[in-house]
Amino acid sequence: MQARYTGTAITLHWLLALLLLGQFVFGLMLEDIPRGTPARGTFVNLHKSSGIVIGVLVLLRIGWRLTHRPPPLPATMPAWQRHAARLSHVVLYLCMVALPLSGYLASNFSRHGIKFFNLVHWLPWGPDDKTLYALFNQAHHLAALLLAVFVVLHLLAVAKHMLIDRGGLLSRMWPQRTTRGARLPSDLSPETR
Ligand code: HEM
Ligand code: HEM
Repeated sequence: MQARYTGTAITLHWLLALLLLGQFVFGLMLEDIPRGTPARGTFVNLHKSSGIVIGVLVLLRIGWRLTHRPPPLPATMPAWQRHAARLSHVVLYLCMVALPLSGYLASNFSRHGIKFFNLVHWLPWGPDDKTLYALFNQAHHLAALLLAVFVVLHLLAVAKHMLIDRGGLLSRMWPQRTTRGARLPSDLSPETR
């Protein structure tokens, strides 16, 4: 049977893929809302709030990843492809951390702070500093761009493995029904495998 990621890793992968895509589009749509209008404040705060929730899920995902070894890659895969896969996954994780972190830091160097889901006002803990705000905002732009580039590379890599190599790579990260009560080898923690 093809080695697979744990059910938790698969759930977090697809949940975050959907949420990050939505958050990315949401961020781009913010650009169309005129500055200084009440609507902008409401939507920017919604973007900040959903971004913080995503940030917490990213930390959970990284925690899970660090404590659960992924299934080994096929032995037939050339070494350079293993290195490229590892490197691109590290960059994806870095972007997933950098986006909420830079957004959170920028918000705390602006007088607005964060109105969490427009309900609770988290006052900024930093000074209203235009230079630091611009720095973290620039980092937010860059991380968004890098995420977009690496997600496209990620999709091309998956497509190559599926269509050209005809390997079952996607099934490693695809939910699968088990027979009632049965556990797949990949659902076991590394210690018991
Ligand atoms: C978690 C994933 C996140 C993604 C994928 C994301 C993505 C984006 C994108 C694509 C933009 C528009 C282009 C840009 O300015 O870079 C944007 C703008 C923005 N984001 Fe995020 N964001 C995330 C989290 C956050 C968080 C947690 C905050 C704050 C707590 C935040 C605050 C902002 C603000 C204030 C803007 C508007 C910047 C401006 O128009 O000057 N973002 N975001
Ligand atoms: C925002 C979108 C996405 C992000 C940020 C993302 C991120 C990641 C990361 C970080 C890993 C490495 C898992 C690990 O070993 O720790 C991974 C694995 C994987 N992803 Fe994605 N992913 C995204 C979307 C997609 C999509 C749309 C597909 C399907 C075409 C996909 C298919 C896969 C597969 C098959 C693997 C397992 C690769 C392997 O077995 O080594 N991902 N993804």
